[in-house]
Amino acid sequence: MVKQRVLSGVQPTGNLHLGNYLGAIRNWVEAQEQYDNYFCVVDLHAITVPHDPAVLADNSYAIAALYLACGIDLTHSTIFIQSHVRAHTELTWLLNCITPLNWLERMIQFKEKAVKQGENVSVGLLDYPVLMAADILLYDADLVPVGEDQKQHIELTRDLVIRVNDQFGTGENSVLKLPKPLIRKDGARVMSLSDGTKKMSKSDPSELSRISLLDPPEAIAKKIKRCKTDPIKGLEFDNPDRPECHNLLSLYQLLSGQSREAVAAECAEMGWGQFKPLLTETAIAALEPIQAKYGEIMGDRTALETILREGRQKAEASAEAVLARVKTALGFSTPL
Ligand code: AMP
Ligand code: TRP
Repeated sequence: MVKQRVLSGVQPTGNLHLGNYLGAIRNWVEAQEQYDNYFCVVDLHAITVPHDPAVLADNSYAIAALYLACGIDLTHSTIFIQSHVRAHTELTWLLNCITPLNWLERMIQFKEKAVKQGENVSVGLLDYPVLMAADILLYDADLVPVGEDQKQHIELTRDLVIRVNDQFGTGENSVLKLPKPLIRKDGARVMSLSDGTKKMSKSDPSELSRISLLDPPEAIAKKIKRCKTDPIKGLEFDNPDRPECHNLLSLYQLLSGQSREAVAAECAEMGWGQFKPLLTETAIAALEPIQAKYGEIMGDRTALETILREGRQKAEASAEAVLARVKTALGFSTPL
C-alpha cells in the first residue's frame, strides 16, 4: 500500500520552543512511520520580516539538526532546506497570479504581524501563505501536521487547489492535490509563560515567555519559577478563569507522557509551590536527551551536510515533477 505523503516545516527564526515541539515536531516524530514524510526548514519564510544575513544559514542548519535531535528518522522522512529547491519560489509566482489579493489580506497571521512591522510590511509578508501553499503542493502532500495557528493557511491552500483545478484542470485530471491539515488537540496551542491567553511565540520580546528546546536546566528552572500563576490552591484543567493553570498542567501532561486524568488527579490538591519544581524537573528531563543529540549532530557538520544534500535531491525530484505539471496546465511552452 502506498503511504500517504506528509509535508511540514518550521522557520529558522530563533530557537525552537516548546510550542513548536509539542504543537508540531513531536507529532511529526510520533506518526512518521505511518507516512512518507518531507520536513523542510522554511528559510524563505524567515525573510518575510527583517532578518540578519549573518545568522540565516546557521539557523537553518540548527533547525535541521533539531529535527534530527527530536527523533526525525531518515528511513521514513526526508529533511531539506526550502531555498535549496528552487521550485518553491517558481511555483509561488505561478500561484500568485491566481490568488485573489483579498484572500491574503484576510489572513490573521498577516494582520497580526503587519501591526508589529508598522511601515515596514513587505510584499513577502503578505505573500507568505502562497509560498506555504507552494511548499505543500510541490510534494502532492495529503496531510500537513501543524499547530492550530496554521489552520487558516492550510484552508487557503485548499481554496487555491480548488481554484487551480477548476480553472486549469481537464476532466478527470486535476492539476494539484488537495491537502488536509493534521492538528492534534493536545499541544496544538501552547501558551506563553507570562500570559496564559497568548500563544508561546518566537517573536515575543520576553525570553521569560517561552522555554526553548536548547535552554540549559538553570534557564528552565528560572523561567518556570517566574512564570505567571494565580493565587488559587488546587490545580485544574479547563477553568476559563485560570488560563495559566490549564497551560502549565497541559505542559506537565505532555512532557511527562501521562494521561490527562492521571495529571488532573495527581495535581488536584497541589499548590504552585509544589507543582513548579515538579514541572521544572519534568521539562529538564524531557529536553535533556534532545539537547545531547543536538550537540552530537552539530559536532559533525559534514554528516549534516550530506543529509541535507540527499534531502535536497529527493525533494527536487518531486518538486520538479509537480512544477512541470502546473506549467503545462497553465499553458507554458516547454523549455528548449
Ligand atoms: P513557526 O515557529 O511559526 O515556524 O511554527 C512552526 C510550527 O510550530 C507550526 O506548525 C506551528 O503551528 C507550531 N507552533 C508555533 N507556536 C506554537 C504554539 N504556541 N503552540 C502550538 N504550536 C505552535
Ligand atoms: N507557516 C508555518 C509556520 O509558521 C511554517 C511553514 C511554511 C509550513 N511552509 C509550511 C508549515 C508548509 C507546514 C507546511 O508555522
